[in-house]
Amino acid sequence: SSNIVVAIDGYSSCGKSTLAKALAKKLHFIYVDSGAMYRAVALYFIRNNVDLNNHDQVVKALEHIHLNFHSRDYQTHITLNDEEVSAEIRQMPVSDKVSAVAAIREVRQEMVRQQQRMGKSKNIVMDGRDIGTVVFPNAQVKLFMTADPKIRAERRYKELLPTNPDMTLEDVFENLAHRDYADTTREESPLTRADDAIILDNTDLTPEEQLQFALDLVKPLI
Ligand code: C5P
Repeated sequence: SSNIVVAIDGYSSCGKSTLAKALAKKLHFIYVDSGAMYRAVALYFIRNNVDLNNHDQVVKALEHIHLNFHSRDYQTHITLNDEEVSAEIRQMPVSDKVSAVAAIREVRQEMVRQQQRMGKSKNIVMDGRDIGTVVFPNAQVKLFMTADPKIRAERRYKELLPTNPDMTLEDVFENLAHRDYADTTREESPLTRADDAIILDNTDLTPEEQLQFALDLVKPLI
């Protein structure tokens, strides 16, 4: 096919979605936040007390989960069985549970299937952990983002503080460290850099500089 896929992977809170959104907006590509899908599944599992170790329960739950994106303005608008859950999936209860849910093979198979369908015929930017390795191994552009863990925690803390006044920087740092560990060590498609992914360390880069870096890679292909 001739559509362009830009795969952006990396650690938690590295600015993947900020860059992916800006890039999609600039190029009029579709933006897909794959992490939001795993978060919505985790939310459903929490609400319905799904036992992660019970294979039958997990499979049954997946059959009852219907996710949809509504990309009005290049923000993530995701519905879980027609309910808007975009705000709730960013809260700590989901962040604490999501990496365990995302480690389940059946969950990943279903999400990857849906993600591949979204990138079949359209120009898209998708961010996540396994986009360049598993979902779109043939993506024309692959970025692997990283940044200093302290900077990442500070950025995410600032983002979450308005709605979570009791949260500490330490809480956020711990959550990121926990997810990075879980995501890189799991058996099912662990977070790892694809051989052909370009590393983008944005510790000292502004969002504009990151966008320019990505544009320089994608523009020649259009
Ligand atoms: O991208 P975000 O931080 O919102 O993703 C939440 C979690 O979902 C990650 O920590 C990871 O466990 C899981 N995830 C994944 N594969 C993806 C995207 C997210 O396993 N492609």
